[in-house]
Amino acid sequence: MPIKQINHPLVRHKIGLMREADISTKKFRELTAELARLLAYEASQDFELETVTIDGWAGPVAVEQIKGKKVTVVPILRAGLGMLDGVLDMIPSAKVSVVGIARNEETLMPAPYFEKFVGNLAERMALIIDPMLATGGSMAATVDMLKRAGCRHVRALVLVAAPEGIRLMDEKHPDVDIYTASIDSHLNEHGYIMPGLGDAGDKIFGTK
Ligand code: PRP
Ligand code: URA
Repeated sequence: MPIKQINHPLVRHKIGLMREADISTKKFRELTAELARLLAYEASQDFELETVTIDGWAGPVAVEQIKGKKVTVVPILRAGLGMLDGVLDMIPSAKVSVVGIARNEETLMPAPYFEKFVGNLAERMALIIDPMLATGGSMAATVDMLKRAGCRHVRALVLVAAPEGIRLMDEKHPDVDIYTASIDSHLNEHGYIMPGLGDAGDKIFGTK
């Protein structure tokens, strides 16, 4: 399962709202956070549980808690920051590793400019967050950086994925599962996803 489109009605509804041409920055940001929560919920379906006994109101009670690998959330600057709070709402104890990558607007090649990872990456699952998987160059470069730093378990959460980016990730990192709210049609001649959302970073930060 390298790519999984989430078909929950709330996800289908919210991603549709994001395609409105004159959507406000506030609304776009809110929907980005809401979809990030729903994607985090899906991507954590198989997290392992363990049973522990705690002091309950009427005495000892057995409860379940998440066991095993710790999580680091990895927003790709800038647009990935728009998904960060939503994911942390669902996984509040996760640590945050940050990657800065700017896509060259002419060549569409990823240009990494920042990297700050948490420790013990070998023992953590990385959840990369970025609204857009277009050519896939930025995502593949981020996985390269994480693997070079010792990370062995990586998942990605994106709002919209293009077939071109899915193919690149399949070739370069077939071990990375990608959770998306939508698989769209194709990239246009400028490397934008069609029908897509437009420039997600500009819409989240209000820089268009
Ligand atoms: C956008 C987007 C992804 C990347 C996707 O970021 O948020 O990171 O492009 O394109 P790709 O799959 O072809 O690499 P951009 O570089 O525009 O930076 P921004 O987040 O600062 O707007
Ligand atoms: N980056 C975006 O923000 N949107 C696209 O469609 C492609 C790359």
